Amino acid sequence: MTRYEQIKAELLASPKTWLITGVAGFIGSNLLEHLLKLNQKVVGLDNFATGHQHNLDEVQSLVTAEQWQGFNFIEGDIRNYEDCEKVIANNGSVVDYVLHQAALGSVPRSIADPVTTNAANITGFLNMLQAAKEANVKSFTYAASSSTYGDHPALPKVEENIGNPLSPYAVTKYVNELYAGVYARTYSFKTIGLRYFNVFGQRQDPNGAYAAVIPKWTASMIQGEDVFINGDGETSRDFCFIENTVQMNILAATASDEAKDAVYNVAVGDRTTLNDLYKSIQSALKECEISATAEPIYRDFRAGDVRHSQADVDKAVNNLGYAPEYRILQGISKAMPWYKNFILAAKL
Ligand SMILES: NC(=O)c1ccc[n+]([C@@H]2O[C@H](COP(=O)([O-])OP(=O)(O)OC[C@H]3O[C@@H](n4cnc5c(N)ncnc54)[C@H](O)[C@@H]3O)[C@@H](O)[C@H]2O)c1
Repeated sequence: MTRYEQIKAELLASPKTWLITGVAGFIGSNLLEHLLKLNQKVVGLDNFATGHQHNLDEVQSLVTAEQWQGFNFIEGDIRNYEDCEKVIANNGSVVDYVLHQAALGSVPRSIADPVTTNAANITGFLNMLQAAKEANVKSFTYAASSSTYGDHPALPKVEENIGNPLSPYAVTKYVNELYAGVYARTYSFKTIGLRYFNVFGQRQDPNGAYAAVIPKWTASMIQGEDVFINGDGETSRDFCFIENTVQMNILAATASDEAKDAVYNVAVGDRTTLNDLYKSIQSALKECEISATAEPIYRDFRAGDVRHSQADVDKAVNNLGYAPEYRILQGISKAMPWYKNFILAAKL
């Protein structure tokens, strides 16, 4: 039995109360779905900056009516300290575990508007951390980012070796880690930061100027639109299917004290170029009876992007019992039918 299977069995036997910030977003709504399916109680916070009611509606359709009753959604903003206090207090029955996902993602968004990104990602983070510490929650897990590796050239990326941040977004995620370290040293409030590496899967938003590469390309291919590759296509990433990310959040939230006050890479340990990614999406769409045969169009490299990214996941394997269940191709095959339905339904 893996540690993940063991923890899930324990949670089923003895349900807990979780807070998910950013619950209407991609990762947040997938965490919600998994936790409700494990009969947990969940409080969710979101201001719909980039999240959607349709993500919550979809989760509702995937769980039982009884499981859905275990969910309490509060529309609010992490930039507002009172909202953070309120969701953690949970009407006098303080939440057990916090999974802090709310933030403004996207490197280009942060370059275009660093002030707004800073407010959500740094002030919002500090508000959540402080409110959680004040309420003495059992554990606090937060979404960090592989962008923290910045210009460090080594591959694969090992948690202890980081370089200079290459974007305002990367600064915000690094500041989260710095605050988390200070809270451990100053207040003995120990947290876990999860450095996500290009997470993908169902409910990742394909729309808008700041969509991530997999949903953006997939939507374009399904609709017969041009697909652009920034640079020569040999830029590489360690794409991580959402189910692995959910696993890491549950393992981190329930980790021992010794495993806390740390950051962990969340990925698979693979490296896929954008050119290979393009071909993989094409062939997975073919399996869904969508023919996308056009060649991609190459254009300039994008500011702030790192050239290569690949994680060393040993620390998570050794300290948290992480056992990634999906590599990129399995994840893409699972995600494509969802995108087909989502994009075609939106066109009706
Ligand atoms: N998806 C990835 O590949 C990836 C990689 C590295 C880090 N991350 C981090 O993971 C987290 C989740 O990302 P995601 O991909 O699900 O993005 P997302 O945009 O789908 O979800 C973020 C959610 O946070 C909410 N939010 C934003 N600002 C808020 C505020 N001020 N108050 C309350 N809610 C707010 C949004 O409305 C949205 O629902 C973020 O912290 C992001 O920086 C994601």
